[in-house]
Amino acid sequence: MIKEEWKQKGFIDEPVAEGIDLKAEIRRMCKEKNAVILAHYYTRGEIQEVADFIGDSLALARKAADTDAKIILMCGVHFMAETCKILSPSKLVLAPDINAGCSLADSCRAEDLRKYKEEHPGYKVVSYVNTTAAVKALTDVVVTSGNAEKIVASFPQDEKMIFGPDYNLGSYINSVTGRNMLLWQGGCHVHERFSVAEIARLKQEHPEALVLAHPECKGPVLAAADVVGSTAVLLKYAVENPDKEYIVATEAGILHEMERCCPDTKFYPVPPEVSEGGAGCSCNECDYMKMNTLLKMYNALKYEWPSVDVDPEVAREAVKPIERMLELSK
Ligand code: 13P
Ligand code: SF4
Repeated sequence: MIKEEWKQKGFIDEPVAEGIDLKAEIRRMCKEKNAVILAHYYTRGEIQEVADFIGDSLALARKAADTDAKIILMCGVHFMAETCKILSPSKLVLAPDINAGCSLADSCRAEDLRKYKEEHPGYKVVSYVNTTAAVKALTDVVVTSGNAEKIVASFPQDEKMIFGPDYNLGSYINSVTGRNMLLWQGGCHVHERFSVAEIARLKQEHPEALVLAHPECKGPVLAAADVVGSTAVLLKYAVENPDKEYIVATEAGILHEMERCCPDTKFYPVPPEVSEGGAGCSCNECDYMKMNTLLKMYNALKYEWPSVDVDPEVAREAVKPIERMLELSK
């Protein structure tokens, strides 16, 4: 029985008896219920440690399409759980906390995109995976930061395209593909606040270190970067070059996997701008990703709630551009 209080909150924080090993209990329930845990690199370290699979948003979408588990517990943010549900409609998709949203997905409402499309007939819509199911349903092809360049480049040079919602990623893709896509003015509140001055300071302290940056960062941060790419691309670069040091301009959760894979390599997270509330912070975290906790995961599996559902009519349209992405990024 799901209590009214939990429904109001959108998660279950029922305490467990003292001494319970939450990780062991979560693994036990996964086995008993045929559940799989997918977690994004930005979640807390202990979540990544208990997950069956960790990855960037492209790898998580692929995994959701492939799994034969009955239940998917998606530890990430809401649009990632929606993508799982769209790709695996017969499965029960759970999220530890239904309030874990995404400022970038919030920056593009379906009704605004519909209007914009009407004002720009003949344009193809390329949407970043960080969008709601309703926005995906209005989209020609979905991309992630891991495949955006390849997918955009697969369109004819003179194709008229709208790219949304991330302005920084869109302008980066325009620059590397030589396209002139119309860009939605959306952004991620975490990646937009990385400080170029802090990168310069870290560079002074560690002159040999290379700068790794996610393409959601602002242009001046990307201009200061040695490697620009999705979380998986940045991780792969470090794993293949462990003898270097790295200044990392993406959400700090990725450091857990970087340090696990390269225990002898030094990683320095870039702090946010002081004017953006960064005073005293040594790293930059996504408060939505951090809403996922072991206790909420335990309770989500125990009560099989909260589930993430997508209106079947919306899902029917939204699955097409996601499958196109999976096909084009093979
Ligand atoms: P990735 O596609 O690199 O996993 O990034 C997802 C995201 O939310 C970035 O902020
Ligand atoms: Fe969304 Fe930004 Fe958090 Fe990624 S880091 S989930 S884009 S708010």
